Amino acid sequence: MAGASRLFCKASSRFLNAHSKNFRVRPRCFSGLIELPETHQLLEKTCHDFADNELVPIAGQIDKSHTFPKNQIKKMGELGLMSINVSEQDGGTGLDYLAYAIAMEEISRGCASSGVIMSAHNSLYLGPIKTFGTKEQKETFLKPFLNGDKIGCFALSEPGNGSDAGAASTTARLDGDSWVLNGTKAWITNGYEADATVVFATTDKSKKHKGISAFLVPKPTPGLSLGKKEDKLGIRASSTCNLIFEDCRIPKENILGEPGFGFKIAMITLDDGRIGIAGQALGIAQAALECAVEYSKTRIAFGSPIAKLQAIQLKIADMALRIESARLLTWRAAMLKDAKKPFTKEAAMAKLAASEAATFVAHQCIQVLGGMGYVTEMPAERHYRDARITEIYEGTSEIQRLVIAANILK
Ligand code: CAA
Repeated sequence: MAGASRLFCKASSRFLNAHSKNFRVRPRCFSGLIELPETHQLLEKTCHDFADNELVPIAGQIDKSHTFPKNQIKKMGELGLMSINVSEQDGGTGLDYLAYAIAMEEISRGCASSGVIMSAHNSLYLGPIKTFGTKEQKETFLKPFLNGDKIGCFALSEPGNGSDAGAASTTARLDGDSWVLNGTKAWITNGYEADATVVFATTDKSKKHKGISAFLVPKPTPGLSLGKKEDKLGIRASSTCNLIFEDCRIPKENILGEPGFGFKIAMITLDDGRIGIAGQALGIAQAALECAVEYSKTRIAFGSPIAKLQAIQLKIADMALRIESARLLTWRAAMLKDAKKPFTKEAAMAKLAASEAATFVAHQCIQVLGGMGYVTEMPAERHYRDARITEIYEGTSEIQRLVIAANILK
């Protein structure tokens, strides 16, 4: 955590030089009380400016056309955001999880699709490889994936198995020097563009979750094909599809971690990932709040800007309250992880609070804008659609409540 990568610092000073005259510190929940470390402040500003300059202008258009933001992801790679938590020793940016949460919020404030592409790549793909990968696996599956040129995905869910992640029915059979995979993985973020995937399959279904192992599969590989690209309510510039394995043969050494340890790898990975999705939800919520505030100051009704009306002020206060509470929970979960303390419950709380804040705030934003909130000329309707998924993927709000309760009751 001591220092950001050279790449990041170089990029940041470029941004600072270019934009310092426009810089104003946004009112943040910790400001004046607990200051973020300098690296995190610089990261926040860099990502904030990047979002304003590179993501906000295209977010509406790529949502409509379902276009993967290839150039923007490449630029995020140049800023060090596509390997933000990979150690400098392994060629990554070497920042901590607090930095990740902050970056995820700022990027998602600009474009929620870019946020989820970044999140699935960093926490779900690179995360388990950096933690459980061998030196050889890191050479092939980590090092070429650090700068935004290549991205990865994470294949856990199946058509018949979402919340019940331990019930995987995709199989892995050892045949000589190969694993042979058969089955279908569903709802795979980045599935279309990914150059490799971490995939979970069972070697013995009778052992339930203890029969599941994790595997590394490059894309393309014979026997691995893609299902249709899902037509989604929100985050439409990111791809989601099935990965179909039909006698898909991978080398024996592509097992990630110990055989039978796959379910734990998935759970450990999702603990981290939930901090990223909390960050994404905060970014969507912040964008919706800013949209409502700006509109309320310029829209005239009953003879003055609607911001003067108490009915609007009450909404703005409730929106800000939800966001700032969820941000505190998110930063706490990230800081616990960085301190190597248990954080499963806190990550679930952060994800639950931030995703419910996002749906609440995006809903209220449309109320403030009225008819203008319902049409695509304004971003409010997109924030409303984008927010919804944050209560579903990487564990639904119901699953987060189960995780929280289980950790309190144990
Ligand atoms: N860390 C480490 N180990 C964990 C763990 C954690 N957070 N949570 C559970 N485990 C371990 C348990 O200790 C237990 O270990 P033992 O077998 O050694 O005793 C084992 O895992 C089984 O635990 P449970 O009995 O609690 O497991 P369960 O079957 O009841 O499931 C669950 C628990 C929380 C419901 C889990 O299935 C879950 O998180 N489900 C949601 C899955 C999910 O989030 N899916 C999203 C898919 S990814 C995605 O969204 C894709 C995308 O592209 C964005």
